Amino acid sequence: MSDPTRIQIPAEIRNESIRTFVEEWGGVTEPDRIELVSATDDARLLGEALTAGELLPAGEGRYYARSHPKDTARSEERTVVATSDPADRGRYNNWQSASEVKPVITERMRGASRGKTMYVVPYLMAPTGTPLAAYAAGVELTDDRTVVLQMIRMARVGLEHFDGLTDPDFFVRGVQVTGDPDSLRHGTPEDARLFATIADERTILHYGSAYGGNALLGKIAHGLRQASYDGYTSGRFLAEQFLLLGIRDLETGDSYHVCGGFPSASGKTNLAMTLPPDALGERYRVDFYGDDIAWMWVDDAGRLRAINPENGAFGVAKDTNEGTNPTAMAAIAEGSGTIFTNTAYNHLTGEVWWEGLTPEPPAALDGWLDWTGTPIADRGPDQQGAPWAHPNSRFTIPLERIPNLAADAADPAGVVIDAIIFGGRTRDREPLIRAIDDLAAGVYDGLTLGAEATFAAEGVDGQLRYDPMSMRPFFSYSEGRYAQHWLTLLGQLAELPVFAHVNWFQRDPEDGHYLWPGYRENLRALNWLMRYRAGDAHGQPTPVGVIPTAEELDLAGLDITAEDLDRLLRIETKRWIEEAQHRQEHLQGLPDVPREIWDAHQSLSAALTAQ
Ligand code: GTP
Ligand code: MN
Ligand code: MN
Repeated sequence: MSDPTRIQIPAEIRNESIRTFVEEWGGVTEPDRIELVSATDDARLLGEALTAGELLPAGEGRYYARSHPKDTARSEERTVVATSDPADRGRYNNWQSASEVKPVITERMRGASRGKTMYVVPYLMAPTGTPLAAYAAGVELTDDRTVVLQMIRMARVGLEHFDGLTDPDFFVRGVQVTGDPDSLRHGTPEDARLFATIADERTILHYGSAYGGNALLGKIAHGLRQASYDGYTSGRFLAEQFLLLGIRDLETGDSYHVCGGFPSASGKTNLAMTLPPDALGERYRVDFYGDDIAWMWVDDAGRLRAINPENGAFGVAKDTNEGTNPTAMAAIAEGSGTIFTNTAYNHLTGEVWWEGLTPEPPAALDGWLDWTGTPIADRGPDQQGAPWAHPNSRFTIPLERIPNLAADAADPAGVVIDAIIFGGRTRDREPLIRAIDDLAAGVYDGLTLGAEATFAAEGVDGQLRYDPMSMRPFFSYSEGRYAQHWLTLLGQLAELPVFAHVNWFQRDPEDGHYLWPGYRENLRALNWLMRYRAGDAHGQPTPVGVIPTAEELDLAGLDITAEDLDRLLRIETKRWIEEAQHRQEHLQGLPDVPREIWDAHQSLSAALTAQ
């Protein structure tokens, strides 16, 4: 039993399993007080955070937060998946034995919340009533009020969400402890941060960060790592770093649903928020379902269905403006409740700014602070070229603020998937879009997704690396078994969605400009894919899939040179043969790769050399 003089568990928590969990970790981290929260506490917590200076006002109903300058992105190095079965070790999941990790992290957390409040955040990562609701319940314990406010925007928060559960004792147990950022020794061999998902115990222990995916445990740690493990061990579903959108053709009344994986900071949020280009705006609508995570299962009729487990969006600020993403601009407008993190901030006017919001930064420097809080006017000569906003600065908004949110976004039955796309930042080789009709070839394409690293994780921006299925930082078990799970589950489908690989980021080899204008124009590529699937477009077959002809793409009102278009719609065989060689090495480095995937690789390689 607890020592009541030391730790008071809120009486409103009547679920014994939650009480025991809170008691256990409260005993370790030793907060001064424990508080249960729900979404209805938002206004009060905002007020407290403003008073405490944790948040600053950023216009009517908008808020600004600055993270510790060393705590600005996910740390893949410090993130581990632990289980008691070494067979779960993958190429990328930093597998460790649970019996070794747990005591280490528990020691780091000991007494680390002294003087602070521990917030108990019960949540559901799913629309209420979905067939996967059993896997969606979680309780995050956090010692950071801003984390609570972000969780309220990103998940369905409150104990009432446990009411409909068949087993209210089956929930993910998450503990986030911030620690003292100044003594964590970020990036040194003694780095004390440790972010562990103990997947076979459904327990997430994160020490040393209050930022983004490191700290909002419902999102990545539960919604991706834990859920993909649960999906595999139950044999029932997939959990992917996928966007989820609908395309409606107002003329024909047809609608399609597309999901897909692009690595972090590669355009998922932007694509899900696409406003059709003016020339197509009369005819098409893009409906937002999700921008970062999809859970998918096979329904009784043999169709692939998907939901977005999240309730909000955590979007990249950089380059968001009225031209690139008017939908996001409307979503973050005054009165939206948006929390901006690590943008530049004007402490006199409450304005925020980031690179790309306007072509030039504000001319009058009065009151402007860069993302670290340094007055722009005081920055030394060595700082002149440095960005005002951190490149991974973000906005957090509830889904309900997104203007193109689908009317049925919270339908517990989800939507039927027509197409699965993969893509990333690839400066050459990858055409605008190539369609793939075969299951193994589609899964192989996802497994060999190569893209440039981005600032969303610590590491080298721009370096090419493989990011299988856009899940590299989120795998919880071996990549080969993961591929097998995809083949097995989708092998049950009565009708397979079409696969496709897209690339909005091909560059001119000479001057480096983007060949494709991107953003709102990306709908043109997806429209072609939908016509291809319907049999109304045929494209040109290549060894790596079917590519649209220039005539088949709807280019009305598009400003693009014939030369750039030509480059976007062809493949360079020589470059692809080199790539096939790299893929061979990449696949050899993954454990347990299924034979079907190797077969898909061999036939692609053979088709290329037969060219
Ligand atoms: P996470 O939220 O980190 O998983 O990333 P994401 O995939 O949602 O990426 P997001 O849509 O936020 O885009 C990241 C960056 O890519 C932003 O700076 C965008 O402005 C830029 N971007 C998105 N779409 C396009 C595009 O079609 N073309 C170009 N050139 N840039 C794009
Ligand atoms: Mn993401
Ligand atoms: Mn995103």
